[in-house]
Amino acid sequence: MEFALGGWSHVIREENVSPSFKGKNKLEETVLESELGDLVCMQSLTLQHYPANACLLPICSLHGAAVTTVEGVGSTKARIHPVQERVAKCHGTQCGFCTPGMVMSIYTLLRNHPEPTLDQLTDALGGNLCRCTGYRPIIDACKTFCKTSGCCQSKENGVCCLDQGINELPEFEEGNKTSPKLFSEEEFLPLDPTQELIFPPELMIMAEKQPQRTRVFLTLKELLEAKENPQAPIVMGNTSVGPEVRFKGAFHPVIISLNECIEELSVVNHADDGLTLGAGLSLAQVKEILAEVIQKLPEEKTQTYHALLKHLGTLAGCQIRNMASLGGHIVSRHLDSDLNPLLAVGNCTLNLLSKEGERQIPLNEQFLTKCPSADLKPGEILVSVNIPYSRKWEFVSAFRQAQRQQNALAIVNSGMRVFFGEGGGIIRELSIAYGGVGPTTICAKNSCQKLIGRPWNEEMLDAACRLILDEVSLPGWAPGGKVEFKRTLLISFFFKFYLKVSQILKTMVNGTDRVLAFPVLGVLVMPKVEYESALEDLHSRNHWGTSKYQDVDPKQLPQDPIGRPIMHLSGIKHTTGEAIYCDDMPVLDGELFLAFVTSSRAHAEIVSIDLSEALSLPGVVDIVTEEDLRGVNSFCLLIEPEKLLETQEVSCVGQLVCAVVADSEVQAKQAAKKVKIVYQDLEPVILTIEEAIRHHSFFQGERKLEYGNVDEAFKVVDQILEGEIHMGGQEHFYMETQSMLAVPKGEDQEMDVYVSSQFPKYIQDIVAATLKVPANKIMCHVKRVGGAFGGKVTKTGIMAAITAFAANKHGRPVRCILERGEDMLITGGRHPYLGKYKAGFMNDGRILALDVEHYCNGGSTLDESLFVLETGVLKVDNAYKFPNLRCQGWACKTNLPSNTALRGFGFPQSGLITENCITEVAAKCGLSPEKVRMMNMYKEIDQTPYKQEIDATNLIQCWKECMAMSSYSLRKVAVEKFNSENYWKKKGLAMVPLKFPVGFGSTAACQAAALVHIYLDGSVLVTHGGIEMGQGVHTKMIQVASRELRMPMSNVHLRGTSTETVPNANVSGASLVADLNGLAVKDACQTLLKRLEPIISKNPKGTWKDWAQAAYDESISLSATGYFRGYETHMNWETGEGHPFEYFVFGAACSEVEIDCLTGAHKNIRTDIVMDIGHSINPALDVGQIEGAFIQGMGLYTIEELKYSPQGVLYTRGPDQYKIPAVSDVPTELHVSFLPPSQNSNTLYSSKGLGEPGVFLGCSVFFAIHDAVRAARQERGLLGPLKLDSPLTPEKIRMACEDKFTKMIPRDEPGSYVPWNIPV
Ligand SMILES: Cc1cc2nc3c(=O)[nH]c(=O)nc-3n(C[C@H](O)[C@H](O)[C@H](O)COP(=O)(O)OP(=O)(O)OC[C@H]3O[C@@H](n4cnc5c(N)ncnc54)[C@H](O)[C@@H]3O)c2cc1C
Ligand code: FES
Repeated sequence: MEFALGGWSHVIREENVSPSFKGKNKLEETVLESELGDLVCMQSLTLQHYPANACLLPICSLHGAAVTTVEGVGSTKARIHPVQERVAKCHGTQCGFCTPGMVMSIYTLLRNHPEPTLDQLTDALGGNLCRCTGYRPIIDACKTFCKTSGCCQSKENGVCCLDQGINELPEFEEGNKTSPKLFSEEEFLPLDPTQELIFPPELMIMAEKQPQRTRVFLTLKELLEAKENPQAPIVMGNTSVGPEVRFKGAFHPVIISLNECIEELSVVNHADDGLTLGAGLSLAQVKEILAEVIQKLPEEKTQTYHALLKHLGTLAGCQIRNMASLGGHIVSRHLDSDLNPLLAVGNCTLNLLSKEGERQIPLNEQFLTKCPSADLKPGEILVSVNIPYSRKWEFVSAFRQAQRQQNALAIVNSGMRVFFGEGGGIIRELSIAYGGVGPTTICAKNSCQKLIGRPWNEEMLDAACRLILDEVSLPGWAPGGKVEFKRTLLISFFFKFYLKVSQILKTMVNGTDRVLAFPVLGVLVMPKVEYESALEDLHSRNHWGTSKYQDVDPKQLPQDPIGRPIMHLSGIKHTTGEAIYCDDMPVLDGELFLAFVTSSRAHAEIVSIDLSEALSLPGVVDIVTEEDLRGVNSFCLLIEPEKLLETQEVSCVGQLVCAVVADSEVQAKQAAKKVKIVYQDLEPVILTIEEAIRHHSFFQGERKLEYGNVDEAFKVVDQILEGEIHMGGQEHFYMETQSMLAVPKGEDQEMDVYVSSQFPKYIQDIVAATLKVPANKIMCHVKRVGGAFGGKVTKTGIMAAITAFAANKHGRPVRCILERGEDMLITGGRHPYLGKYKAGFMNDGRILALDVEHYCNGGSTLDESLFVLETGVLKVDNAYKFPNLRCQGWACKTNLPSNTALRGFGFPQSGLITENCITEVAAKCGLSPEKVRMMNMYKEIDQTPYKQEIDATNLIQCWKECMAMSSYSLRKVAVEKFNSENYWKKKGLAMVPLKFPVGFGSTAACQAAALVHIYLDGSVLVTHGGIEMGQGVHTKMIQVASRELRMPMSNVHLRGTSTETVPNANVSGASLVADLNGLAVKDACQTLLKRLEPIISKNPKGTWKDWAQAAYDESISLSATGYFRGYETHMNWETGEGHPFEYFVFGAACSEVEIDCLTGAHKNIRTDIVMDIGHSINPALDVGQIEGAFIQGMGLYTIEELKYSPQGVLYTRGPDQYKIPAVSDVPTELHVSFLPPSQNSNTLYSSKGLGEPGVFLGCSVFFAIHDAVRAARQERGLLGPLKLDSPLTPEKIRMACEDKFTKMIPRDEPGSYVPWNIPV
């Protein structure tokens, strides 16, 4: 076979072909949905570009194709492509790990559509994930290629942003006009399609000649011969077979991989009765074909096609749709298939072929349930599918609800079809099929049968719902959980279908001869107008946003970069794929790979471990156990020592038991599976916070903060309210999984450890302790980290120590890279919280007393749980002055993997508890939550509960500006109007304030150091203790050096972080990395400048080269360390008083959402954020931090849901089960604005740290949904308290919008079954 990679032809002979494509560059996949290549194929002698997931692409499917990876698109060594340039310059990269995938998606889009529409753009990015940026800057970069980039192109309310403003309300014009832009389009390279890579001529000639080859199937006959082999599956897109091989251990010694050359499989045939589509057509092609067909044919013929198109719009991302085939989709018969329910109700037939000949079978329930009599026979292939035209008076609809709008498998989906027949309002045919509610697609056949002959009216609707619920029964323990939600969706979808058909009938009947066409109309009850709101689907597209910041003082020197929106200095390298991460480091001589074996029980004694089979496998070098680590098997980072490996008693699923070391990754992982562990389960198994409370299972160290006299205050208040809220955890989902490479140096017991970590000093310490050598023998190096968010501290150290131990033992380099699933299982995440509160308040909304209890689920070891809890307790007041406050917190010890730091560190949980309490107080007082928030906020100079002074002027300023910028009052009225007119859709609007205290709680923890060298050519090298993990700290440090040394940034370089250059550096986190290290860099530069001043003043017109040489000649040192001793912070928990924080970041966010009360879907309409960030060092990076954190917070509070089995096994171990926000979740409008800067003498150029605060602002979306749900409930007469836990998922939204359908579903007695999952 022959294909091209990066312009070079590759010929692979039969014996070299491996079924999977595995190469160690950007073709190698790390995250299922991120990394891509552009695939150019010849089809009917025209070129087609496809984005493709490298991990799923069988190499043998590449015959005749040209593959372009991000390296082939452009590079710093040759030419940077406009896509790469614009993504970087529009600030679309932070950690850069997702960036090659983004570039490839946009590049491929532009190859096919040089001036794409915004819809095409959103679609193209729909299959990519980014955890850092919040997508807005990436969208901005793409928009520069669109024809109408200035406009939001959102005509949702019939208005355009450029005309009148969204919602027909005055818009945020001032900001748009006065604020400088974060990038300048004028400097962008033009997109010139003539400069693009050409399709290799030799492949072109090959395509034209189509030479016959035996292993490449060009005829159906050859294919059928190959299919005789019962062990060889046909692989089309490999999107179903591939994941089974990669993640579920399926093994196929031979696969039959088809490219698209077999004509019969690519057929598109229009016949009198319908369309025949080849089974080999990709889902993307099917989408295009159907879109064309519905343009040409009358609507009554294309009902099924419309329905299929609707689902094809949200099915996976475009990478998968480009690869997945129609045939593969049908034959794999996934339980949540979006298309099979529609094809089944649409009466489709399948054209099969084998050596015995052709036959046709219906795509019906028997086929879908794999009933042997209705299934494909061995040796048979699916050639094509007949999809009949719909008839007059026939209606087909598609429904689905998923955790996330796009690129998420449906929780439930459905296809529904009704046929009335000419001249009657009576149901003649009815078909309903559901996905997601059983092991395969389920048809409600009996229900449909019983409804035939009935008129389409509300009695029929009622009967249908009951019949469906009876027939499609889901047990309480059903896999996937969400059972009551799924039951509700079954009938909510049918209700939508009922309304939709009724509405069409209404228009059809009005437009035709009413009596002739529909004589029984008398019995058809037309739905009320406000019910029509049930019909429209919620889609967020055509995003746009603005950022407003203060430009630098016009008097500032032009070369001084502080305060300017400088691009991330690795930005271009991120986009070209040249940025090196740990796993990109070249394989070293003799390198080994380490894979962990983890426990499968939550609490058990290990009775025995049998390593023999694993050790006997080829390539296996060693298995490291607790025995090997005797005497060094634990390390204390914070308070309690933590064990490295455990071979006696395990206390969670995912605990590290031993580590297999082998020649290759595949061998290590295969051997790890062969380690046999016998367990004896132990009691109790404590998984949830409630269980921990019941067993009194807490880590030592309750935290308590008390201010005023809470008990006395409760006696004088008008009302007292008690409530609680549970908040689920969150996975870090950094794009680069845990990665490390330990390299023994071969002499003096030295070792270099290259690791993706936020805390090199700790890695150095734990490795040194494990190897029993002094720290000066171990050097830890971190070039950059592909996202961390708090998750690359404690567990990283433990894994690095074991990896280094293996390297030391064998005297060979050892690499360990976790797969996504392992990473999610082992490393823990944000702490789930239970908050209980009792508030005493006056009828006017003033809260006089608040008594709060925090319980966090710490998991099996202490890790950082106590600090997280402490932070939550200290920050419980958020922006409010509660005159009497008590907050107590406990860290629960449970049998879950240990939870750890995650951006915000306890504040996102604590703040939500407080805000929820305020929302409930407001409801009790009959006031808006915003009014109660404002009333209770800190005003001017005051005192926090720990008696630290606070000046809240900027807090109030942020609040007021956010109110004004978001047109809050006008929009509140508009939302109420909308809600009064729409029964099944509700909007919600909410605004939350933010007071985020910044500091580490101790001076020593805030110290930082730097090292600056000036070389004799005048160039400067800066090193500091901070880690570059996407936040742009290295860029900011170079800006600092540039200002201090008064030299251009291009003269300053930064190579990375190492314990060799800056010893004893603190962990990078808590929003303080740039603050602290910047002060150290500034100090070093000032020291150097002071030394050089006499020389510079002697030769003021000289260059840095002159000055450096002169200094050298005068024996003046050109190297200086810089040091910052730390902010003066302290906290005394005995007295409850202190000054634990250096300053406060203030802010406010206002969000508007729309919910679908029938499905629980929500759409983020708009968010306005105002932040007080002092003097920004780099507004582009700071806006990026705020937006990225906000979107991460929005995910935390609305869609990210970790699911655990009742045995403590984490189910959600990959992007297919755990959904982080994607591009479609970004608010349609997102505006970020900074307050005019104010002086803050202690911080770096009066700047403020911004890494974390924005996460909490994501809860404005939570409360906007809360507001919408409350509106729905009020309309339904449900006026009592509303308890909504976080995340506020579609399930929770739907179930809270109670109605006749939620009442209709059967409910299971609690305790009568073991649920599939439990909230922890
Ligand atoms: C990340 C991701 C997201 C996804 N999201 C969605 C989603 O939102 N909604 C949804 O419905 N689906 C989704 N899917 C599933 C996807 O639709 C299916 O995996 C895909 O359609 C299968 O097609 P394929 O060509 O890749 O099948 P393959 O993996 O190539 O084959 C699947 C099976 O079909 C058999 N087969 C293929 N062609 C033939 C033939 N002509 N004759 C006989 N047997 C044949 C193969 O032998 C194999 O057993 C997703 C998949 C992935 C990986
Ligand atoms: S920049 Fe997208 S994941 Fe980090």
